[in-house]
Amino acid sequence: MSPRNAATRVSGMVERPPGFCYRESKDSRGRGSALYCENVSLNHLAKQYGTPLYVYSTATIRARLSAFEKAFRHFPHTICYSVKANSNLSILRLLARAGCGFDVVSGGELERVLRADRRGARKIVFSGVGKSADEMLMALKAGILLFNVESESELSVLAECAARLRKEARVALRVNPDVDARTHPYISTGLHKHKFGIPIASARSLYAQAAGIKYLKVAGVSVHIGSQITDVEPFAEAVTRVADLIRQLSADGHTIELVDVGGGVGIAYEQREVDFADHVARYASGVTGPLRELKVHLLLEPGRAIIGPAGVLLTSVLYRKRNDGKRFLVVDAAMNDLMRPALYGAYHEIVPVDIKSETEPQEVVDVVGPVCESGDFLGRDRNLPPVEEGDLLAVLDTGAYGMALASNYNTRPRPAEVLVSGKSAKLIRRREKVRDLLSTEL
Ligand code: LLP
Repeated sequence: MSPRNAATRVSGMVERPPGFCYRESKDSRGRGSALYCENVSLNHLAKQYGTPLYVYSTATIRARLSAFEKAFRHFPHTICYSVKANSNLSILRLLARAGCGFDVVSGGELERVLRADRRGARKIVFSGVGKSADEMLMALKAGILLFNVESESELSVLAECAARLRKEARVALRVNPDVDARTHPYISTGLHKHKFGIPIASARSLYAQAAGIKYLKVAGVSVHIGSQITDVEPFAEAVTRVADLIRQLSADGHTIELVDVGGGVGIAYEQREVDFADHVARYASGVTGPLRELKVHLLLEPGRAIIGPAGVLLTSVLYRKRNDGKRFLVVDAAMNDLMRPALYGAYHEIVPVDIKSETEPQEVVDVVGPVCESGDFLGRDRNLPPVEEGDLLAVLDTGAYGMALASNYNTRPRPAEVLVSGKSAKLIRRREKVRDLLSTEL
């Protein structure tokens, strides 16, 4: 078995190196290829742990993180991985060991990070439009790096919490730069009509207010304009506006040390990614360019770009079905396991784990789950080689916002998760049981 050239397509199937590549398989079926995660066969994992199953590649996570580190090497920075994209403790531990900080948006995420990395607090930023007083108290006690505050009311609650504990809270205001991120409307956040941030024009007066409050320390400016953004221009535009604001704030007498540029770097769901290192390098020059003259430390909050292509969702075909002319593959994963197609109409490439022959004719199918909603599809009108009941499919690029958005709709237990590293595979979350779901009900 030898890994194919990473750039090849197998029967039109695009691979995701270094994590997911086809290898020639000389099993009982004779000639063919099978999809691997690093050196572990996905067939093997499905047999061992069942499906639906999320599988993640350590090599991919590390490679993407190093691409970020490399692209920003000339600018003082900290990568604060956005926990919401995938919050599994083992993934957080892996990232913490690689030197990451974290962006959290709830007390629950904060607890996860502290569990994964006891000494991680000084690299945590707390974002989110509705932090509660309890969550702020918890973060203050932990001694986090920065609160990204989103309103005047939130600022005063933070001031009360800090005063109560007599602990200083480092504050950035999250400004809304009124920049169009040109992404899906549900994940665009940087326009004035969105609930996020403080209009950039009103920021100066709120900074003046914050500076006068005991136990609050004005430390930074933060911005996040949305997610799955594939152009560099919106980022560069937002940071240019932030840089102008920082010059004004400095003239007003504030010391702005930290600039948090949020997350949002998009990935190529539909076609093979242009070289990721190039992509991040372009992003890096777009966001650092406007900040060159300012003496600031950059905070980056990527989520999807680090973990998205590092995960696949494995699912088994339960039934083949034909309604009039339309063909369906009913699989054992559903919208509760992977919500993105139902919620955003998102596209995820779906590939068979076993390719029997590269010359097989393809058929057009809808890949759907067992949930009782027409919105329960993983892919529509997909060209796939004929697959049989019992065959395995892999839904690609599901490392981010896959398991993180999974629910128990239809009383379906959530999938297990496995983390692969080279030849080894570790179960990092066991499959839920119906018993787990019922255990909170009285
Ligand atoms: N920072 C803040 C303040 C955020 O709100 C987000 C994402 C991130 C960082 C990370 O963004 P990323 O680098 O992952 O794009 N469920 C949606 C995505 C929602 C993103 C919410 N905020 C999806 O599945 O596409």
